[in-house]
Amino acid sequence: MEVIAARTAETAPVLLEMPEPSPPTAGQVLCETLQLGVCGTDREILETGTPHVPDGDDFLALGHECLGRIVEVGAEVEGFQAGDLVVPVVRRNLETPEVQGDERLKQRIARPDLMPWGTYTERGIVDEHGFSQPHWLDRPEYLFQVPEEIADVAVLTEPVTVTEKGINEAELIQSARFGLPAWEEQAPRVLVTGMGPIGFAGVLGCVARGWPVTMFGRDAEDTFRVELARELGAEYVSANTINWEPRNLEEVGYDLVLECTGSDNVMMSAARSMRSCGIMVWLGSSRLPQAASHNVGVWMRDGLLSNHICLGSVNAAPRDFSRALEYLLQLQREKGDTLARMITKRLEPAESLWHYQNREPQGIKTVLMYGT
Ligand code: BGC
Repeated sequence: MEVIAARTAETAPVLLEMPEPSPPTAGQVLCETLQLGVCGTDREILETGTPHVPDGDDFLALGHECLGRIVEVGAEVEGFQAGDLVVPVVRRNLETPEVQGDERLKQRIARPDLMPWGTYTERGIVDEHGFSQPHWLDRPEYLFQVPEEIADVAVLTEPVTVTEKGINEAELIQSARFGLPAWEEQAPRVLVTGMGPIGFAGVLGCVARGWPVTMFGRDAEDTFRVELARELGAEYVSANTINWEPRNLEEVGYDLVLECTGSDNVMMSAARSMRSCGIMVWLGSSRLPQAASHNVGVWMRDGLLSNHICLGSVNAAPRDFSRALEYLLQLQREKGDTLARMITKRLEPAESLWHYQNREPQGIKTVLMYGT
């Protein structure tokens, strides 16, 4: 079978042959990929020429945003059957250490998204081949079942889990410091910086919760992505017109900033638009950040005086997969046509290589369609 791979010391993706997986053994399921999203992380893996390849291989089969279908179920698998639509999780613990009643460690193992580098693999990203394989073996504990009703958009689940983690963690932290559910009665004012798929995923999470959300970007007013943001229910503010430091900050500033550009300039500017006790979640970054000169002292002083929190967030917890699926179903019912427009290109895997190195100017999510 043919896969899309990143090879060590090469920056262009290649189509490679891999053997078909063997039939599932006890506790395993055999799945087929139906749809696969292309993501900024795929491009970064290629750009740096240093993919984290599985032991013994000199390439990494890419693909971590997957909608699949179960083809065959091994012995002792319960709750899953052939034909089920599934979304696989990306990160898995390398091995479960002997926990011997250590409750804290047990909890962290249940949350591989909170574990440090070196303790996990990520399919299609770190040390394990991904889902550009047309067929792959997995274990049911890594799969979430998907309702047929959202089959068209469920490939967006994984990027939505990433912003869901950010939002859910921010809400937990905020509630913990106030000692009551922070944003249940009073919705937070949210700013999403960036107009890529993660930015749009953040908007989906806010719209589904009924929270007011503003998207910040560089696009001109009359362009597709601005139109889509508005159709989804967000306001739009452009880099040309934004005033990062409004005089009435406590009135019009933000309680939650989802920073999805990975730009330190945008991040430092957005921090100035946060109300007292605001939280900023870092959801974007560059693999090879460039040195910059900022007055970090001003950021610290203002953040301290306003009780700001900055929260790094990567990957997602099981909770976030459940939420992502729940919200995609809700939005499919409420505004299915608009939601579907987030997928700006669908094409066959063999024709997709250009998209692993380039972005279309107004593109959001490119999706590979398998077996069509
Ligand atoms: C993926 C996450 C992953 C992260 C870091 C992102 O693109 O969506 O699941 O943890 O990259 O590798």
